[in-house]
Amino acid sequence: MKVLVVGGGGREHAIIRKLKENKSIKEIHALPGNGGMHKDAISVSIGAKDIDGIVNYALENKIDYAVVAPDDPLVLGCVNALEKVGIPAFGPRAEAAIIEGSKVFSKNLMKKYGIPTADYHVFSDANEALEYIKNAPIPTVIKADGLALGKGVIIAFTREEAVDAINSVMNDKKFGSSGDNIVIEEFLEGPEVSVLAFTDGNCVKPMVSSMDHKRALDGDKGLNTGGMGTIAPNPYYTEKIAEECMKKIFVPTIEAMKKEGREFRGCLYFGLMLTKNGPKVIEYNCRFGDPETQVVLPLLESDLFEIMKATTNGTLAECEVKFSSKNACCVIMASKGYPEKYQNGFEMEIPEEIESAVYVAGAKYENGKLYSAGGRVLGVTHVDDTLKDAINGAYDKVQKIKFDNAFYRHDIGAKALLATEEE
Ligand code: AMP
Ligand code: GLY
Repeated sequence: MKVLVVGGGGREHAIIRKLKENKSIKEIHALPGNGGMHKDAISVSIGAKDIDGIVNYALENKIDYAVVAPDDPLVLGCVNALEKVGIPAFGPRAEAAIIEGSKVFSKNLMKKYGIPTADYHVFSDANEALEYIKNAPIPTVIKADGLALGKGVIIAFTREEAVDAINSVMNDKKFGSSGDNIVIEEFLEGPEVSVLAFTDGNCVKPMVSSMDHKRALDGDKGLNTGGMGTIAPNPYYTEKIAEECMKKIFVPTIEAMKKEGREFRGCLYFGLMLTKNGPKVIEYNCRFGDPETQVVLPLLESDLFEIMKATTNGTLAECEVKFSSKNACCVIMASKGYPEKYQNGFEMEIPEEIESAVYVAGAKYENGKLYSAGGRVLGVTHVDDTLKDAINGAYDKVQKIKFDNAFYRHDIGAKALLATEEE
């Protein structure tokens, strides 16, 4: 079997490593992949948004199955385009990927089907939004409708910040046409949980829960990033809460999408806030999370390739999806300055004995050497019996990796550990 993976970050590296456990897969092609994957896949410099390029490459190389991992190609219809030429693919079609591609769509879906989420208003006119904000409860949350590289959410703690946010998104078009419409929503409080779930459009099988750390600096300070580290399982997500989420959120969402004629197949990401009034959806993503995948997939005991094919074939109900009861921690090593300006191109040293624990997100491979090439450079994952051991093990491995300008958070999992000690 020849498998193609669209995308090139740490998430894709974790997916590729897991796929390699299936012995029927003989070749994995990553588009664009990155130099750090050179032992696991053939990286080809075709961008994840180049849908025609991806389809042509898949046809020319007789690819049997494709995995489309990032949001952009999914929203652009990469799965539809591959299916059209007879190549089955993991991930939702464009009509279902809209659940992430448009926040207005997802909020309206939740309202229509009674799925718990923050109260909200939609605006297509900046003046109306500015008028509304004069008397709106503060803090408030302003969200650009479309994709915005994970930066389209602004939490305003004062009315002035809210006004600035509306102006920058709607009038100055900070996120381009993604800000033509905005959602202004109620500010929710509580622990956040990420739950990824496999679904074939009818059956939904949630994966182990996780916790992301989005801010750049220790103590949840600094700018929002793509994610600086994760732990799994998330201690706040008890069995009772999991049951409630299954009944009130996961199953209703899958059914709602089916009723709308937008059957969702692939991995649906539920970003949840455990409020004092119960769990509520803060966001849906139409894909695996990054770096959630780097802690979730190492805990998967079942065969990822079989599960992926079952989501495509509609046979997920008969497919085993089993997770280990261990704990995992992933620490992201980034380039100093990320998520703003940073320098890279520095030689990297990753000892061979820990290579299998490292998921590379941004690196070049030249003349037998790896060089940093990105904001997030790599993730280091450790799996162990307890959360504490998982965290310590991940940081031990981090100490063994060397490249100039490296920086990472020192407190990944600290909050979760406190929660387990409070129990
Ligand atoms: P997103 O880009 O949708 O992942 O949102 C980024 C972050 O903003 C989330 O992880 C939450 O921490 C926060 N957030 C989003 N919506 C809300 C909300 N309604 N109330 C409080 N925080 C929120
Ligand atoms: N880690 C958050 C995301 O993948 O969107």
